[in-house]
Amino acid sequence: MNLEYKNMNTLDWSEPTAADVSRRLHPAFDKTPKSAIADATGLGTINRSGGRVRVDDKAMINCRADVNQLLPLKYRWAWEKYLSGCNNHWMPTEVSMQADIALWKSKDGLTDDERRAVKRNLGFFAASESLVANNIVLAIYRHLTNPECRQYLLRQAFEEAVHTHTFQYIVESLGLDEGELFNMYREVPSITDKAAWALKHTQNLDDPGFSTGTPDKDRAFLRDLVAFYVVFEGMWFYTGFAQILSLGRRNKMVGIAEQYQYILRDESIHLNFGIDVINQIRVENPHLWSAAFQDEIRQMLREAAELESAYAKDTMPRGFLGLNAGLCETYMHFIANRRCAQLGLAPVFAETENPFPWMSEAMDLKKEKNFFETRVIEYQNGGALAWD
Ligand SMILES: [Fe+2]
Ligand SMILES: [Fe+2]
Repeated sequence: MNLEYKNMNTLDWSEPTAADVSRRLHPAFDKTPKSAIADATGLGTINRSGGRVRVDDKAMINCRADVNQLLPLKYRWAWEKYLSGCNNHWMPTEVSMQADIALWKSKDGLTDDERRAVKRNLGFFAASESLVANNIVLAIYRHLTNPECRQYLLRQAFEEAVHTHTFQYIVESLGLDEGELFNMYREVPSITDKAAWALKHTQNLDDPGFSTGTPDKDRAFLRDLVAFYVVFEGMWFYTGFAQILSLGRRNKMVGIAEQYQYILRDESIHLNFGIDVINQIRVENPHLWSAAFQDEIRQMLREAAELESAYAKDTMPRGFLGLNAGLCETYMHFIANRRCAQLGLAPVFAETENPFPWMSEAMDLKKEKNFFETRVIEYQNGGALAWD
């Protein structure tokens, strides 16, 4: 498997111009008049004498170009992810839940261990989708001062709403206790610990007075991006997908498994968008990516893997059907190292094989169509998606 970053993301990184770098490293020498600097939200007073936007003025953070003008595009990778997201449109209600309902209601269709794992998995995702959505809209959006990235964030926010809708639909279909599921992130310590860890990294941004513009503040913004895009969506969701898809491979809870395949397809783009955003900020602001900061990010990924191991032990105390906490821990180490490679960081764990090689097959919706014998609508027409 090729772990080289550029092969996993369809990127055309726009390198900063000499003027960009000079402005960021030596703001005192910046000759751009203050009045020409647009506000970060795009909701301030209109500059009636403002000139037309130049590509060179656009930047990921601390932007000086008008954020209300999508064109000219600077970051084509962000625009392409927006188009891919639109091509992948789906709704949870289009997936039949009949087989799941019959299995869930049958006395011996699932073991107690399987029921526990399914419920905790659903409980983890149900609130996590909202946490991710709230972070996008209330923390990230304001500080990511680029219109093509914001265009993707708006699409992603809608997809998170579709994912939350999925859990509402599952609860309703199976007749689950909605309070038990949706409040699980406040009642089950191994789930609470993960949510609390991620929220710790968005609290700086939650302060209404927070704004980027100094190395400390810019790094706080990067920590939030790592916690939510790389860890929440890029690590924790992946073990969650593995649990349900493992059941689906054995013909159990096939409706939920199919919905998870669609969620996984969306999340794969969310993750890659987050990685591209972090790397683009890094390219434009090399002073932020110090050796100490790189170590800090690696430590974050290490902690996240440990939290996931605790969650796996809690959700699968005995293991079932070829899945157990030990394998999930190994998978998390494998994924954490992969995320490090995508961010240009040294690995955090010893090199390990992927214990779930079938995950890449499970992500192939066309193959699964025959396997599950359920109704799958192919929204994606001819677009080559890079699964991750
Ligand atoms: Fe999601
Ligand atoms: Fe997501």
